[in-house]
Amino acid sequence: MKVLVATQKPFSAAAVKGIKDIIEQNGHECVLLEKYAEQADFVAAVADVNAIIIRSDKVTAEVLEAAKNLKIVVRAGAGFDNVDLEAATAHNVVVMNTPGQNSNAVAELALGLMVFMARTQFTPATGSELQGKRLGVQAYGNVGRLVGQKAKALGMEISALDPFLTDEQIVAGGADPVHSVEELYGASDYLSIHIPALPATIKSIGYDLITRMPKGATLINTARKEVIDEEGLYKALEERQDLKYVSDVMPDNYDVLREKFGLRVFATPKKMGAQTAEANMNAGLAAARQICDFFATGNTRFQVNK
Ligand code: 3PG
Repeated sequence: MKVLVATQKPFSAAAVKGIKDIIEQNGHECVLLEKYAEQADFVAAVADVNAIIIRSDKVTAEVLEAAKNLKIVVRAGAGFDNVDLEAATAHNVVVMNTPGQNSNAVAELALGLMVFMARTQFTPATGSELQGKRLGVQAYGNVGRLVGQKAKALGMEISALDPFLTDEQIVAGGADPVHSVEELYGASDYLSIHIPALPATIKSIGYDLITRMPKGATLINTARKEVIDEEGLYKALEERQDLKYVSDVMPDNYDVLREKFGLRVFATPKKMGAQTAEANMNAGLAAARQICDFFATGNTRFQVNK
């Protein structure tokens, strides 16, 4: 089988070698398409491949249409909002993710961004400490739970909201359960977002929620920019001079936000939460193994378009 690794934002060289080794040791061929300039380059590269490993690369209906021999796409990472699941299912293509494999990297970045903002973006201005502050975690899954547990070690109080977990599970994960977004935002000095981008969550965080946050609060987004209502964010920051926003996913209106609100906002130029040597290795190798296992045994354990 021919496996394409299509990564506009490439894995580390060591991870690519590991992926290649696994694929070749299992008797398959591995081809690479890295740092491609246009989506058309991706479409052109899939014509004869049987499997694709991607990161945030866009597997659109056009890609699926062009990939006549495609059987499986593995998103090396957690979020699969970049894959057209309906089109994949219509083309009989199995889509998987690699849950948990890059969570630690994202969680560490969320904490780093919190410190960065608490210390006024590492300028000499007097900052504040995380100890004793309350952190709200919106969705207590693989990433959220790690953020909560690490923040607890820094002396923060943790609240978590997760409709898929019982109170007991949240407590076992080290947090105080909260049952509504209003309650969560209303009590959190720091609020870390870990919800996926879905029709129900897109633009779900806007003016009403953000302005519920206590004085001096910081909103941290290492999830997806789409979950923020950017106009609402702007309005909230304009009205509440004490609030801050930090994001690993640059908002479309970042230049305007930065100009207007200066050090109260920050966004990384390119999504970098999962961009560590360890996460590249964990997610990349897991993706390669899942593909080989799928071809050898039909294992669909991590399929997301069932
Ligand atoms: C994920 O959903 O796993 C993260 O957002 C990482 O995305 P990336 O592989 O494009 O860095």
